[in-house]
Amino acid sequence: MKQEHIIYGGDYNPDQWIRTKEIWSEDMRLMDLAGINSATVGIFSWSMLEPREGEFDFSWLDEVMDMLHVHGKKAILATPSGARPVWLAKKAPEVLRVDESGVRNEYGVRHNHCLTSPVYREKVRLINRKLAERYAKHPALFMWHISNEYSGECHCELCQQAFRDWLRREYHNDIDELNFKWWNGFWSHNLSSFDEVSSPKYRGENHVPALKLAWNRFVSDSHISFLENEIAPLREITPDVPVTTNMMRLFKGIDYRKMAEKLDLVSWDSYPSWNNTDNTEEGNAIAFVHDLFRSMKGGKPFFLMESTPSIVNWKPVNPLPQSGITELSSIQAVAHGADSVQYFQWRASRGGHEKFHGAVVDHTGTEHTRVFRDAAKIGQVLPKLDAVVGKETRGRVAIVNDCENAWATDIFCGFFSENRDYDGVCTAWHKPFWKRGVPTDVIESDADLAPYDLVIAPFLYMLKPGVADSIRRYVGGGGRFVATELFARVDRDDLCFLGGFPGEGLREVFGVTAEETDALPETERRAVRYNGRDYAAHTVCDLLRADGAKVLGTYENGFYAGTPAVTVNGFGKGRAYYAAFRGEESFIDDFCADLIEEIGLTGVWPDQLPDGVSAVERGDLVFLMNFTSEPKRVPSSGTYRNVLTGDTVSGKTELPPFGYVVLTR
Ligand code: GLA
Ligand code: ZN
Repeated sequence: MKQEHIIYGGDYNPDQWIRTKEIWSEDMRLMDLAGINSATVGIFSWSMLEPREGEFDFSWLDEVMDMLHVHGKKAILATPSGARPVWLAKKAPEVLRVDESGVRNEYGVRHNHCLTSPVYREKVRLINRKLAERYAKHPALFMWHISNEYSGECHCELCQQAFRDWLRREYHNDIDELNFKWWNGFWSHNLSSFDEVSSPKYRGENHVPALKLAWNRFVSDSHISFLENEIAPLREITPDVPVTTNMMRLFKGIDYRKMAEKLDLVSWDSYPSWNNTDNTEEGNAIAFVHDLFRSMKGGKPFFLMESTPSIVNWKPVNPLPQSGITELSSIQAVAHGADSVQYFQWRASRGGHEKFHGAVVDHTGTEHTRVFRDAAKIGQVLPKLDAVVGKETRGRVAIVNDCENAWATDIFCGFFSENRDYDGVCTAWHKPFWKRGVPTDVIESDADLAPYDLVIAPFLYMLKPGVADSIRRYVGGGGRFVATELFARVDRDDLCFLGGFPGEGLREVFGVTAEETDALPETERRAVRYNGRDYAAHTVCDLLRADGAKVLGTYENGFYAGTPAVTVNGFGKGRAYYAAFRGEESFIDDFCADLIEEIGLTGVWPDQLPDGVSAVERGDLVFLMNFTSEPKRVPSSGTYRNVLTGDTVSGKTELPPFGYVVLTR
């Protein structure tokens, strides 16, 4: 893929305006005005491309592709499997999803297809092949956008059979192995054959944690094999055109990291909940997600495939963001590694479910709107940042956020059921680094830890095979690893490790045994004294026995007052920390600040950043971003050039409310 400029575009649906083609030419004029250089077409166009079975009509798409090319815009061409024509559903009901009560959906909505159905897979392959054959040589074709936001599951008989076959492969066709690993002796759940297994169901089996985990893995693998089925004809016919699919913020229905292996680049759809007063929390939360998607491909650029230029239509209340917020949001994506800024959507539909969703062009249809002017401003800024295109970013710190662990922490029954909030906990541990401008990756638990000076694995309850060894090797070799509450309790089938926690030999690495776990009612706090300062623990506290670890903090009240709450153990050349409780923000912040100092990590900005301001480096550019509605003055001991204005910056930099600057040394 040759890309020189940041891609600026978004979802474009000219097929909805086929009766008023003057709108198409108007779109081209307006896109030029807004600085748009790309359009994503065909996402839900199947019924326009194949109105009746086997009757293909590409004439309108030919025109659209030609028009985009003539106007110098790249086409991100979608495969249409996210929604299907009615004729297909009527002809072969097996393409429709069955819910967990066994009832088949009728035709309707979108994302309503069986992941296993051979008929659906074949029809998808065929339409994708036709698209690839038709546009393989088209000069506008830039990238494939596979389907749209894969999600959901199907419980039909075809999927049940596929699940049983999947289990046979996972458990070596040995039902006794499955019974043992699922601990099926409990409540008389032993199975005598794989044929007896069904998907977890509300009215059926839903109390076997390992079944639920297996089902999650199976559903995820089904999406991935569905994706591979879609990609096969594209790779065959257009081997040089990159393939992506748009992922969603912290969505856990698919193990995205496994899916990413099948893609040329990762892209995601970002819909932050910005407000007009203070976006510091959301700024960190979105930074965390950008870092996660970037880390999926080892720091390579990703695409911001969708974002809204103003409002969405699907929240209970959809307040308008004030001008500047969309711009800041777009710049943040680029800073964290995006090589594109794209919207849902270019033009608001006239009818249908999403007509009140924000769009660059609204129903007035002109450039004389606030939202259009804001978008056009971004269109002027992005070309000045082209130097970042292709630039990779790697953190020296990694936060572990593992999809399978997210499933496991959701499923187990015990200790506390509310506020498990795995992603929230990981995001909270990301914040100290974000606010100090320390580049941070977000990785899975079985990623290579060697590149990092510090790895933090919050609430890592499940250890996948090999993870304990990897932690041991990492710490032994000089790494610093932080574990927190409920660390290393179970294996991938949710079987508890025996002989004391943390399991799999990690007691030796951490020099502690977690003997019991206390859950705290919502209003209760446990006092913790760490490094001479007082903090509050909430939600969950592990009770530790130090078996060699140095105690850095202790619980201060309750019957376990005086016992260890924070420990560190020297192991090999490294150090293993255990912060045994869920801590309030000030604890996480101070604890991480101590680690940053001890390791000698530096942020990308040499001076102290004010609250709500983040600093991110990409290539030669440094982005300073203000997520608050207050102006901020950032001290700046170095001398920089403002990339957008050409001004020299030294001494200090002023950031307006929700403003930013991009600097170079
Ligand atoms: C998702 C979808 C789009 C559109 C937007 C609306 O991201 O991919 O098709 O529905 O939401 O916000
Ligand atoms: Zn199915």
